[in-house]
Order: sequence, then structure tokens, then C-alpha cells
Amino acid sequence: MSTPAPDVVPATAYQSEIYLAGLSGNTPALPTDLTRLEALAREKLDSGPYGYVAGGAGTGATMRANREALDAWRIVPRMLREATRRRLGRTVLGTELPAPVLLAPVGVQSIVHPDGELAVARAAAGVGLPMVLSTASSYTLEEVAQASGAGPRWFQLYWPSEDDVTLSLLGRAKAAGYTTLVVTLDTWTLGYRPLDLDQSYLPFLRGVGTAIAFSDPAFRAKLAAAPEDDLMAAVGRWLPLFTGTALRWDRLPLLRENWDGPIVLKGVQHPEDASRAVEAGMDGVVVSNHGGRQVDGAVGSLDALPGIVAAVAGRAAVLFDSGVRTGPDVFKALALGADAVLVARPYVYGLALGGEDGVRHVLRCLLTELDITLGLAGYAAVDELTPDALVRRP
Ligand SMILES: Cc1cc2nc3c(=O)[nH]c(=O)nc-3n(C[C@H](O)[C@H](O)[C@H](O)COP(=O)(O)O)c2cc1C
Repeated sequence: MSTPAPDVVPATAYQSEIYLAGLSGNTPALPTDLTRLEALAREKLDSGPYGYVAGGAGTGATMRANREALDAWRIVPRMLREATRRRLGRTVLGTELPAPVLLAPVGVQSIVHPDGELAVARAAAGVGLPMVLSTASSYTLEEVAQASGAGPRWFQLYWPSEDDVTLSLLGRAKAAGYTTLVVTLDTWTLGYRPLDLDQSYLPFLRGVGTAIAFSDPAFRAKLAAAPEDDLMAAVGRWLPLFTGTALRWDRLPLLRENWDGPIVLKGVQHPEDASRAVEAGMDGVVVSNHGGRQVDGAVGSLDALPGIVAAVAGRAAVLFDSGVRTGPDVFKALALGADAVLVARPYVYGLALGGEDGVRHVLRCLLTELDITLGLAGYAAVDELTPDALVRRP
């Protein structure tokens, strides 16, 4: 479901840039080991926002499983092969990507930085990667579209229980230039998240992360007073609209008939669900467990990937997320058959620590490390990767 893009991205330019800046006594403002960002964000953020981003469901077993699944695979470098110039580009669902990486949908980004989604949209557009904008954005989808300029735009739908609101959101997203719809299935109610529960922290109750719905004509039509005048009434309408829905497989035609571009279902972990998505006319799936934020004790997302690739590859795009922290992580998911990989928490920590610059730093580090890893492992293109590039830990 993917074809190579023509351009060769000099992702390693960032590495040279960093070393050269050292000649003038400058070092990067943030660590280049992206796994260090979480600890720094913890120092900087209040405990509510930090817990909301870093926390997971229950005991955190699924978050650990996500990492264990990635760590269980090891890259086997090959020598004396032509890999001096690398091709990272790939077209996925009609979007030309300079590398098969997207920014995962993450809601309420203003809790970590006032510029929130606007800063992320600008940084993503700067490196040419799509930001998948969450329905739970702190800014409206029109505002974020404007911030993303000429950058690619994908929209993530939390599927409302009222069809007129759904259709209104789809119409707005289309009008604002979003091309691909990502429908998240795994969060029809919030997971059991002790870090948030212990602090009684849920930003939506304060009207944060509700900008898209609150600015929606179909949402506002059934309110006695505008959200600006009666926040709690608007929140009271928002919550049930996005939780406890009665949505089922047989409702997918509503989306198919009202969205012209590709539709991807996010949160798929079982091959049968992936096959069912294809049968329902969907164009792809995101193999994801929401970063371990929903079901504690669930399968590590990468462990679910090969079975889903076997079930639907060639018939649908298979995207992957949950646990991705580094370039080698992206490499492993691509080698196991993912068409593209979504990165989430690392860029949110970049946003928290450095706003737009912080996000740009994270994305450039990730792409640089992916590019270098690809080359040093002996591959000239992401399209050459197969499971043979990996071995399972003994
Ligand atoms: C703070 C936070 C907010 C999120 N909000 C959304 C959202 O609004 N919509 C969505 O589909 N996924 C959301 N996710 C899930 C991400 O898209 C992604 O699946 C997950 O974070 C991947 O796990 P990782 O960050 O550990 O790699 C959110 C994740 C985090 C950490």
C-alpha cells in the first residue's frame, strides 16, 4: 500500500549541524537521547499535566509491554553494502512523507505549553511530516490547519454519538484541507488511570481540549447558552457525546459515505479486527494500544503487528504506534511490516521543554537516528527493510 517517494532526505544534516555548532561553543538545548526527555519534563511540568502525559492505565503493565516488545527485537547490521545515500521517503495513503513517520494524535497539548497544537503543527510542517490532529485539541481544527501552512494534514476523529455533530466535524475537516481521517476506536471511555485519578486531574472538565467541539455549529446548536457563557453546561454536553457510544462495525458506512479521502482505524490489536476494517472499506489501520493508556495488562503493540501485517498487508496500510522512542524503534516496526510509524510522547515532551523548537529538535533527532541506523545496518532505503533485518532476542 505504499510507494517510494523520489527525494533523498539528508536527515543526517542535523548531526553535522550539531557538531559544527560546537565549534562556536554551542550545544543542543535539549538532549539528543530522546529517552531523557521524560525526566526533564517531569521537573518542568506541574504534576497534573505531567501525569496526564506520562501516565498509563492501571499498573503501567501495557506501557512496559510496549517497550519489552520493541526491545525483544535486535537489529542485525549487514556489511559492505551500498548504503551511503539513503531513501527514507515513502507515500502512504496518498501523502508523500519524507520519512515514514507521523506525529500521533495527542489531545490537550496546551496543558504542557500554551502554544500547544499550533507549535506542533508548525514544527511538523517544517520537517514535512503530517501531524494527526486530535479531536481533543486545545485549538480549533481551522486554527491548526492555518498553523500547518503547506504541511500535510490528517485529522483524528473521536467519533461523536450524534451523527449531525460527526458530519459537521467531517465537513469542517475537509474544508480545512485535512486529507486522511484517523478514527480512534479504543477510547470510547477513559481507561483507569491512577496518576490522573489520584490528582483528580481531567482537563476536559475545565473546558481544556474541547476547542473543536465547542466551536462546532452542530454542537452549539443544542446548547441553551454558548460555551463562553456557560462552561459547565457545555462540558456536560461534551462528555457523553464522546463516551459510552453505541458505535459498532455496522456504523462505519456513515464515515465512508461522508469522507472522500482515506480512512484509517486506530487502536487495532487483533488481526480479525484489521480484516474487518478492510471488509468495511477502510483504507488502513493503526496498530496501537494508545500507549498503554487504556487496557492494563494488554499485549505489547509491536507483538500485535506481525499478525496484523499478515492479515491485511497489500489490502490496507498498516501504521504502528505505542512505545516508539528512538530511530531504531521506527526501524524495527518498519522491518516488521509497518508502512509508517507514529511517534507521540517524545514530541509532547519536546513541546513541554522547548515549544516549537523542542518539537522540531525531537523530530530531527528521530529522523537522523533512523537514517543513520538504516545506513549502518546496511540498507539504502526503508523499502528494503524486511523481518530479515531483525533477530528475536534469545
Ligand atoms: C497525552 C496523550 C494524549 C493522547 N491523546 C490522544 C487523542 O486525543 N487521540 C488519539 O487517538 N490518541 C491519543 N493518544 C494516543 C497516541 O496517539 C498514541 O497512540 C500513543 O501515545 C502511543 O504511545 P507512546 O506515546 O507511548 O508511543 C494520546 C497519548 C498521550 C500520551
